[in-house]
Amino acid sequence: MAKSKIIYVCQECGYSTPKWLGRCPECGTYSSLVEEPVKAPPKAVQSARPGMGGEHRPAALKDISIQESHRKHTGILELDRVLGGGIVEGSLVLVGGDPGIGKSTLLLQMCLHLADAGVKVLYVTGEESLHQIKLRANRLGGHQGLMEVYAQTEVDRIEESILETSPDIVVIDSIQTLYADDIGSAPGSVSQVRESTARLMRLAKSKRHAIFIVGHVTKEGAIAGPRVLEHMVDTVLYFEGERTISYRILRAVKNRYGSTNEIGVFEMGSQGLVEVPNPSEYMLNGRPMGEAGSVVSCCMEGTRPLLVEVQALLSRSNFQMPRRTVSGMDMGRANLLLAVLEKKLRMNTGEQDVYLNVAGGIRVLEPALDLGIVAAVLSSFRNQAVDEKTVFMGEVGLTGEVRGVTHCPQRVREAAKLGFQRCILPKANLAACRDIPGVACHGVESVRELQGLL
Ligand code: TYD
Ligand code: MG
Repeated sequence: MAKSKIIYVCQECGYSTPKWLGRCPECGTYSSLVEEPVKAPPKAVQSARPGMGGEHRPAALKDISIQESHRKHTGILELDRVLGGGIVEGSLVLVGGDPGIGKSTLLLQMCLHLADAGVKVLYVTGEESLHQIKLRANRLGGHQGLMEVYAQTEVDRIEESILETSPDIVVIDSIQTLYADDIGSAPGSVSQVRESTARLMRLAKSKRHAIFIVGHVTKEGAIAGPRVLEHMVDTVLYFEGERTISYRILRAVKNRYGSTNEIGVFEMGSQGLVEVPNPSEYMLNGRPMGEAGSVVSCCMEGTRPLLVEVQALLSRSNFQMPRRTVSGMDMGRANLLLAVLEKKLRMNTGEQDVYLNVAGGIRVLEPALDLGIVAAVLSSFRNQAVDEKTVFMGEVGLTGEVRGVTHCPQRVREAAKLGFQRCILPKANLAACRDIPGVACHGVESVRELQGLL
């Protein structure tokens, strides 16, 4: 019998060492190394390599024939888009996200759609009972046709079952519950998660099943996050959002079969996730009209322009150190813009509390939002409402200059589509946007010019 050995594995990045260390030398996290027994030398590293077709010698690139991979449509347009146009045969997709965000719901909905369309689906769950899955599936509707459900956490059993029934699509919910017998450590540890994923990947590549793996992103140290798996899988999707806010964004952060610039927007309702085909409209829902401090700006979410409402509230401070509270944007960026306004427009906010917010719970880190923030602050400072049919976009630099933004015409078209009549944008982008019908574009070069346009 092989002598069992102990290694210490960082639960953040997967670094392993035979000696315990207080701090991981790879990722710098403290107290993240956990003792894990290994009976055999870890196979995970070898088996983690993609393309294990078992070829023994190199092949000439020109001689390799490919069939245009056939994609299966999930029945959920937003999901298809993020996947790059549907599910590719033999692909391994990781769906990550905070617990409770809706990963199981999304994948169950996908399975039900596929089963409806006659695709053979296997849903493996290690988190819920079959009874719970049935209840949820009933709630979500659909015919449940060729769908099989399996409550199992042992990788060997799951492999056997996949080989036996040969489903087209397999969902594993979640990777953290899986357990490979020959790895001594607990389910959810880096070694277990990696080995299970490696095995599933071999299966996906050799037998052309598409496999979806759910991975919870967890607070540091608790159980291995899906981050250690990102390099092993073909596609990584993250499901984001606040549990208290009903809309969710599905984002591709890696995709061997498509662009990573795509997002899908969903809303969690009583009957599962509903696609939001027009997110801008959704984001601007409930916007106050004719109120000072509310301004519309446009950011890009991947390749999609998204109109958002930026809100500013300035009020006289009762604190010695006036408050600066921002949500949905970068605090440093907001402070920088306030400093620019102070210096260039002599706008003294030193005795005012400043609250800034991007409505709808979305977080925008794109500099194109700058001009919107500046306009909202000015509007609140003067207590003067901004025309509600105007959109502001542009990056503001330290000297108060307004710099060009990417994809400007697309943003302006989105604004026109939603009935906006005026766009204040960087002068550098004006020529490209001048002829877009329905909106009048004004180019500005500095924040000073903005004053006269509000
Ligand atoms: P779930 O898919 O279980 O999250 P995850 O798998 O990412 O942990 O969904 C979590 C939440 O979604 C749960 O709190 C209940 C809510 N939910 C609805 O609001 N409506 C629904 O139709 C369903 C199925 C779930
Ligand atoms: Mg779940």
